[in-house]
Amino acid sequence: MEKSLATKTTAGSLGFKRTAGLIAVLTSLGAWLFITHFPFSSIASSSSDVDLLGSGWNYMPGASINTNGLYITHLGRTIVQQDGTQGQLNPPVNSYGTHLQMTGDFTVVADIKDIKGSATLQFYSSPPIVQDEFRVEPKSLRINLNNQTATVSTWDGYSNQNLYKQVPSSVKRYAFTPRAENTIVLTRKDGRLTVGVNEASIITLPRNTNFSGDAIWFGLDAENPGDNWTLSKLTAKSLNSGSVKAVNMQDNSVITKDNQGLQSLVTAKHSGFLVGAATALPPATMDSRYRQTAFNNFGSITTENVLKWQFVNPQPNIYDFHEADALVEMAAKNNILVHGHTLVFGEANPAWVQNLPTGTDADKRHVKNVMVDHIQQIIGHYKGRIASWDVVNEPLAGYDNETSDRLRHHKWHEAMGEGYIVTAFTAARHADPNAKLYINDFGLEEDGERWETLLALVTKLKSQGVPIDGVGFQAHVYESEDRIDSSVLRQHIRQLANIGLTARVSEMDVYDDDGESVQAKQYADILDVCISEPNCVSWTTWGVSDKYDLWQDDDNVLQHGRTFSWDERFDPKEVVLQMKSRLKN
Ligand code: XIL
Repeated sequence: MEKSLATKTTAGSLGFKRTAGLIAVLTSLGAWLFITHFPFSSIASSSSDVDLLGSGWNYMPGASINTNGLYITHLGRTIVQQDGTQGQLNPPVNSYGTHLQMTGDFTVVADIKDIKGSATLQFYSSPPIVQDEFRVEPKSLRINLNNQTATVSTWDGYSNQNLYKQVPSSVKRYAFTPRAENTIVLTRKDGRLTVGVNEASIITLPRNTNFSGDAIWFGLDAENPGDNWTLSKLTAKSLNSGSVKAVNMQDNSVITKDNQGLQSLVTAKHSGFLVGAATALPPATMDSRYRQTAFNNFGSITTENVLKWQFVNPQPNIYDFHEADALVEMAAKNNILVHGHTLVFGEANPAWVQNLPTGTDADKRHVKNVMVDHIQQIIGHYKGRIASWDVVNEPLAGYDNETSDRLRHHKWHEAMGEGYIVTAFTAARHADPNAKLYINDFGLEEDGERWETLLALVTKLKSQGVPIDGVGFQAHVYESEDRIDSSVLRQHIRQLANIGLTARVSEMDVYDDDGESVQAKQYADILDVCISEPNCVSWTTWGVSDKYDLWQDDDNVLQHGRTFSWDERFDPKEVVLQMKSRLKN
């Protein structure tokens, strides 16, 4: 496994001297680096400690609470790039839990003990937005303790649009003397940040860099396989005239609904029909407008990325449900149903899955076991809590990827042929007999080969008694050629009704190059079609606000789209106005 992007990409690695006791002083440093030597006890304190560890850590990925504090284990999450390679690290952040809010000067103290291997503490200005192929690094500061080396890395934050540059802007290494209990201290004094390890100050950052802001979110990680450690104390205290406060986002998760949300308007006329949105955890926790808009308007959420393989099962036998659990719990608290996305997919698979061999019969059996185990673990964990699942996502070959059977030839197909679909649905039904099970794909809204292939496939599955309940029409409208003809979609939904299957519009989003009215009409027309067909049970859009409509272009540059229903300020766009006005008529 790659150790860290930090070590891989930082130019001119800085040599360090090991000196006993005090931290080594480095030469050849960037102009902004100041070395100071005062012991931390000399910092003036003006308030009592605020405990940050006492509550709000039960959804921290990779962590478990015990009598010594918070026990951190290795998750090894990295993000799969579009070309299938594993790129950015995706270390955990306590998003649905406690963070620090502060004004003015403050100090944070973390006690780190029983380090086996290495320990990483990261201070973030906000939780990162995590997509499938990249994560947008906010300003942050990472301190890694490994043997006798403390590595301090800094990230500059969001303004850097090029994702390849979203590696640390600086990485410095220092010698330190490890103890049974190590103390990391982060201090902001007169707007200037200082980091210390074991009572020695090792680095001072320039003004207006990381945490010139008013919040710190915490990341804890054990970087290498087998690493673990315990966080036994995390406190903050204000200095001079500053203030500090521990905020647990679990106390802020229930929103007040009005009766003008989309779901309320739908329910008034079409009881039982669900309108939903794909929802992500970081904006749901850190952004109250996102939370309010999503939970007020939608009666269903789809787990956008948190239940994809690379996030939930990043290493063999490592399942981490904390983030998905957080989303599911937030939904439950707001009386919202959850649609699980997704179990078997050719994308978003971690390296250990991508690298499974399929050459021999034994290899193939192993791949099958891995897939079945994954399905059982995931559905089993959410039995009774997740109402429906995309069991098989995007089984059809892509437009530029023709195959003999028109199916996508990914790992699962390589190992099991078309039979992987039967195996997946059978395992899913077994794991939760009450969950509704879907096949989900794009480009099914128009006539032609894709639709014919899919219809033939599900017709065959139904006739063989395979436990499939329905088909998800992704309904992505990314360009003019994707425009959906209502009557064609209606006919496809009816063809499913004829063979006893339900339909859902599962991931709708619409480009806006032709203006907001055209965008709005497309959205509203498709919602109308779905509502009016008895076997179309729900309609889901793939996002809430344009604020979080982020994607990566072919050059890995971050792009901002306007394909969703609320604008970046969370004002309703014409999409919402038009859908609401039709629902009221
Ligand atoms: C998307 C995610 O929403 C993004 O965060 C990611 O960057 C790319 O993938 N069809 C699917 C979804 O089934 O899983 C995809 O989700 C969109 C296309």
